[in-house]
Amino acid sequence: PLTEAQQAEYIARIKDLLREKNAVLVAHYYTDPEIQALAEATGGKVSDSLEMARFGAEHPAETLIVAGVKFMGETAKILTPNKRVLMPTLDATCSLDIGCPIEEFSAFCDEYPDRTVVVYANTSAAVKARADWVVTSSIALELVDYLDAKGEKIVWGPDKHLGNYIAKKTGADMVMWQGACIVHDEFKTKALEDLKAVYPEAAILVHPESPEQVVNLADAVGSTSQLIKASQELPNETFIVATDRGIFYKMQQLSPHKHFIEAPTAGSGATCRSCAHCPWMAMNGLAAIAEALETGGPKHEIFVDPDLAKRALKPLNRMLDFKA
Ligand code: 13P
Ligand code: SF4
Repeated sequence: PLTEAQQAEYIARIKDLLREKNAVLVAHYYTDPEIQALAEATGGKVSDSLEMARFGAEHPAETLIVAGVKFMGETAKILTPNKRVLMPTLDATCSLDIGCPIEEFSAFCDEYPDRTVVVYANTSAAVKARADWVVTSSIALELVDYLDAKGEKIVWGPDKHLGNYIAKKTGADMVMWQGACIVHDEFKTKALEDLKAVYPEAAILVHPESPEQVVNLADAVGSTSQLIKASQELPNETFIVATDRGIFYKMQQLSPHKHFIEAPTAGSGATCRSCAHCPWMAMNGLAAIAEALETGGPKHEIFVDPDLAKRALKPLNRMLDFKA
């Protein structure tokens, strides 16, 4: 970890570099607090994955520096191919993306030629290019509801928990790819019930990438931005939160008097105090942001094959237009 003086030095350097390079910093709610604070302080954006995509596409800067995971950088590049898109590290991937290789997923879709293919944004450009629609967790429920009302049957990938949650809520006919998020998959029902018994007045907030029984205990279920909204709007003073701990920065900032507690995971208490933190989001450090802006190059710059990008753009634009 950096000392306070080192942090301050990096922050000052990044501010200069952003100006010099005509760049803007776009960060996800799961990145570390100092990165979210820096994005806010420099006219950038901290948001869920849907709004990151929208902001990057609309902002006039020549260069986007995307602090998050690789699919977020790729989405930014596909939406704005003329911009330079940098990331602190291209090694920041996502277990959903890893667990959904294009060859297998495409063969899976081929088994159901009459179905509409809806994929989560947490996928490669190639998987997006194979899809009819891309969604993020902010609009997945609404979009599937809309398709179901038109009588469409769906192939869903890759997150099985999010897919099952949506199928249960909408009654849509969905065949499911069996992917999972290694962070949300770790939340434990029994331990959560025990924690709720200690804080009976607490509201439970759950991201729908979590297992069904954890979702069943929730007072509010939704994307990162929807959970943040719930933390502001629900009257409770205490919240147990089942999602990446990065989200606490924004929740606490918006409701300084409220008390936010991490939902228990398999390793809570025993092996780590804060297990619910995505290892790939954690790769986004200040030093890496400075290096990306300073040197660019193959360690940091996102390139997407132009033909693939063209095909992936279609379902991505449909997503943005669906909820403009
Ligand atoms: P949101 O779209 O809710 O921000 O989630 C993105 C993500 O990667 C969740 O793990
Ligand atoms: Fe992927 Fe899960 Fe990390 Fe989100 S938290 S980026 S879904 S591994």
